[in-house]
Amino acid sequence: MVQNIFAGKKVVVGVSGSIAAFKVAGWVSDLTKEETIVSVVMTSSAAEFVTPLTFAALSGNDVHTGMFCHGKEDSMAHISIGRDADLVLIAPATANIIAKLACGIADDLLTTMVLATRAKVLICPAMNSRMYSHPTTQKNLKSLKEVGYTIIAPACGKMACREEGEGRLAEWDGVKEQLAQNLSPQDLQGQRVMVTAGPTREPFDPARFISNRSSGKMGYAIAQAACRRGAQVLLISGPSSLACPPRVTLLKVQTALEMNDAVLAHAANSSVIIKAAAVADYRPEAVSEHKVKKEKIAKELILTRNPDILLALGKRKKKGQVLVGFAAESTNLLEEGRRKLLEKNLDLIAVNDISGDTTGFEAESNQILVISASGVETLPHTSKLHCADLLLDRVQQFLNKKP
Ligand code: CTP
Repeated sequence: MVQNIFAGKKVVVGVSGSIAAFKVAGWVSDLTKEETIVSVVMTSSAAEFVTPLTFAALSGNDVHTGMFCHGKEDSMAHISIGRDADLVLIAPATANIIAKLACGIADDLLTTMVLATRAKVLICPAMNSRMYSHPTTQKNLKSLKEVGYTIIAPACGKMACREEGEGRLAEWDGVKEQLAQNLSPQDLQGQRVMVTAGPTREPFDPARFISNRSSGKMGYAIAQAACRRGAQVLLISGPSSLACPPRVTLLKVQTALEMNDAVLAHAANSSVIIKAAAVADYRPEAVSEHKVKKEKIAKELILTRNPDILLALGKRKKKGQVLVGFAAESTNLLEEGRRKLLEKNLDLIAVNDISGDTTGFEAESNQILVISASGVETLPHTSKLHCADLLLDRVQQFLNKKP
């Protein structure tokens, strides 16, 4: 497997004194598994909740705690730690640290490092809900936003003080997505990207339908990766159990005809269209109101062709629009890919080998062959999310070339 967006990035995690510090130990562990280079800076109050040794063991790096640890730490640590960081994450951020940062107070290593860094700063407040909603805290958060820091809103729910309300440390999944976006190049900003995903279901009675093995994972990964890179993303999905990636607009459909209507309605408004959906080529001609008895199915089931949505998109492709198809194949990958690229008037086609267990339908990873008029490229075998990024790199090159 090749690298992901977190691998090799330098992230400084600033931990201040809240009980939620123990959750951030898990975050550091996860980032380290993603091969992020994590440096942890703790305030003295944070060290009352979780020991620096915990963060040192989880990050694999020394933890920075004080400005004046003679002989042990870099005497210019407050400058050097944040100097080449890609990102600074302050979590949990107490009302106290937020107030100090808002006023430019630099009386410990964490606050001094934040003043000295020019990296992006993300702040995850965590405190009692009355402290959080206090006008002073809200005013401080507003000033931090004004200087360009990103505030990740806390969650609502039960807190350590046995009260309920807004102020719980945000959930890691959402925070991780924000980190990913901030670490990604924003090279798709201003683009409207439409992605289709999943199978379609073609019913013939209230209990049964014709469908295929598509899980939607590849299409959802493309939507997520495009959104991280700054695009405005519309995901048109057939039935899938996957959760919609944050900030992506999801339009759910069932049948090929419904997908056809949804895609054609939004096509003119899209600068990039990526058709990863496995659309059923046929549908039952009639849908019975009642369950069809099994003896009758073989005799009565007549199939009729569904419209080829991608073919229609190719015919009405606008100047400057980038059209990307997928082809699920088990033999003659190159020939089939080339044929579909030409027949459907595509800019790019990603050909999937569906005969293995580690690529194509349902798999977590993928390997695609990308074909365009200028040639063929075999991309590495990697996670679907990274595969999506590699495909988007090729789309991006196309956008740069087009007038
Ligand atoms: N596609 C589509 N509408 C259909 C069938 C396919 O838009 N009715 C799109 C898919 O979303 C995919 C591409 O066409 O991007 C290729 O799909 P595939 O099933 O591999 O191709 P077919 O054209 O159906 O070719 P064949 O069955 O001949 O392999």
